[in-house]
Amino acid sequence: MTKTDLIIIGAGPGGYRAAEYAAKQGLTVVIFEADQVGGTCLNVGCIPTKSFARDAEIIRTLNNAEDFGLNGLDYEFDFQKVVQRKNEVLSSLRSGIETLLAHPNITFVKAEAQFVDAHTVKADGQEYEAAHIIVATGSVPKTLRLEQPVSRRVLDSSDLLSLDHLPERLCIIGAGVIGMEFASIFNGFGTEVTVVEFLKECLPVLDADIAKRLRKTLEKQGVTFHMQSVVTAITEDGVMFTDKKGNAVTIAADEVLMAVGRAPRVFAHFNHAGFEFSERTGIVVNEHLQTTVPHIYAIGDVNGRQMLAHAAEMQAVHVVNQILGKSDDIRLDIMPAAIFTQPEAACVGLSEDLCKEQGIDYVCKKSFWRANGKALAMNESDGLLKLMVSPQGAILGCHAYGAHAADLIQEVSALMCRQTTVEQLAHIVHIHPTLSEILQAAAL
Ligand code: NAI
Repeated sequence: MTKTDLIIIGAGPGGYRAAEYAAKQGLTVVIFEADQVGGTCLNVGCIPTKSFARDAEIIRTLNNAEDFGLNGLDYEFDFQKVVQRKNEVLSSLRSGIETLLAHPNITFVKAEAQFVDAHTVKADGQEYEAAHIIVATGSVPKTLRLEQPVSRRVLDSSDLLSLDHLPERLCIIGAGVIGMEFASIFNGFGTEVTVVEFLKECLPVLDADIAKRLRKTLEKQGVTFHMQSVVTAITEDGVMFTDKKGNAVTIAADEVLMAVGRAPRVFAHFNHAGFEFSERTGIVVNEHLQTTVPHIYAIGDVNGRQMLAHAAEMQAVHVVNQILGKSDDIRLDIMPAAIFTQPEAACVGLSEDLCKEQGIDYVCKKSFWRANGKALAMNESDGLLKLMVSPQGAILGCHAYGAHAADLIQEVSALMCRQTTVEQLAHIVHIHPTLSEILQAAAL
């Protein structure tokens, strides 16, 4: 039996960040990982998609080269090289995490851990005991139970990232974050992309006005959307659905991506620890991420709160602080998010729709990329920012789409964490010419 201060199950952004921070604070840690370090984010999520997105962005710029006075450009697209560059990025980041886990206070066990009881786990035939345990097992793609021929493989986001060829026609089921990012990437690569979505608008997390404008932009780039459509079957040739007028439609596709959400990754052996969990909503936690067994915590996707790598990382720091008896002022309720389409979309706090729905008094202050000098100089005039403010001037939220929207939203997030008013924001000097002036212009 090995005894340690802290056991962590899972070495994704939540798990490895918790291990690193706890070890630096002097705790001894054993961290288990059955697969590659880095979790969904590094191996099959945020990072590989960003590598692909950068390639797609370059291709789009090349396709508009004449706008920049580069006439007659010709190029050959080498998808194998795109995949190779993505794989190099991943392995470099994986070695970074392995180095971080080589800290003298950390024991890294590359094996699947299972609960024996509320203080003990076993892996590879060995038992480990700790006063505190953090579960950070992540999430898995959800799937729809559809009629489908055995010969037809429906891909999830991980499968699509490991394709060694470029599909000519891709049909994406779901216009959520994953669906929209892949639609943008593969459209950039030259694939014919069709998206079938159940709801009226894409990206339910975003302000509906912003989401609609972003969808229209992707439509102009060549992506076809079928909104309010119900997928009924996968066929040999593609995807069958009932469109919003009730017509039965079949879309021919070489590959089909299922992007209808992710579910917390829970296991039957969690029952040995005795905390509450369910397959649908994940591990039940309180505001300090404690499970119903107080010395066991659940962070990241597995607690079903916000399936975002940065949420997992900050939850990790907060939990380690709890274990150390340290207070902190981490605002897990102010959680910015970004969707890396081209252009990007991002948000923090309340949207206009939510203010209306919840009967909150608000003023909506808008600002457009087309009125910003840097945006026009960059040839990036498409974009809108909506800043939601209370009648007293408190910043309630900000939703935007446009080039580098994520960077702008990060500033709003910092201001909200420090309870800065819209007037104070208007009085903060912003560098000219930068896209950050779009935010300041909304505040003025
Ligand atoms: P999601 O919940 O964002 O979107 C799923 C979409 O599928 C919804 O619009 C839903 O209406 C639609 N849908 C559900 N059933 C359907 C059906 N039968 N037919 C057609 N459409 C259907 O889930 P998604 O995109 O799979 O992402 C999973 C998680 O991963 C999310 O929590 C997301 O925040 C996270 N993620 C975050 C990223 C980021 O921060 N940039 C990138 C990718 C994923």
